Amino acid sequence: MAIISIASTKGGVGKTSLAFSLAKDLRYRYATNDMSVALQKYKNARYYPNKIPLYPDTVYDFGGFDDPHSEEILRQSDIIILPTTNDQNSILKSQLFIKNFREKTILVFANMIENPNDAMMIRQKIHEHFPGLAFTYLRRTKLLKNALESGLSATELYESNNHSQHIYKKAYAEYLKILNLFLDDDQTSE
Ligand SMILES: Nc1ncnc2c1ncn2[C@@H]1O[C@H](COP(=O)(O)OP(=O)(O)O)[C@@H](O)[C@H]1O
Ligand SMILES: [Mg+2]
Repeated sequence: MAIISIASTKGGVGKTSLAFSLAKDLRYRYATNDMSVALQKYKNARYYPNKIPLYPDTVYDFGGFDDPHSEEILRQSDIIILPTTNDQNSILKSQLFIKNFREKTILVFANMIENPNDAMMIRQKIHEHFPGLAFTYLRRTKLLKNALESGLSATELYESNNHSQHIYKKAYAEYLKILNLFLDDDQTSE
């Protein structure tokens, strides 16, 4: 059981893509304050343009959290996943975000990584200011995009046929590291 928020102050970093797949794989509710195509692709997806409610077993896709109410949900979350891409602006915004939510459990999610060195560089820049903060990454891949477009989670797409298992092998292994954080957690709490 968990409240997972995926947030960033930057757009286009992969919040919706990850939120949709995680929600579907965990059989969690998907809730967003940002209009997104995920709403048409998942029966447990809901759009709350104004006051987004606090639920358990939910993945929140926060397109914006300028209002105090969304910030309150972020503060109540068990974990905030913070997608960050390899550009200075994204890293800077992530550093400011982490500062603002210093008391929270945050997973920095370096996304759209072109090569492993870039991931290590982002990790280093984050750890310079926030040593030991949880960090993971996902390569540049069509896995999440193709999953969302076909209305499948990353796992469902990966497992759909041999060709998918071949082309998404590495990307899916990276995605699975994130998914397993919550699957392992569910097992131990039962
Ligand atoms: N790991 C990745 N590699 C390549 N493209 C990605 C990756 N993750 C997301 N994308 C693409 O980046 C774009 C923005 O993603 P999206 O999830 O809409 O971001 P946000 O919700 O933060 O605005 C989409 O076209 C999506 O398919
Ligand atoms: Mg989005």
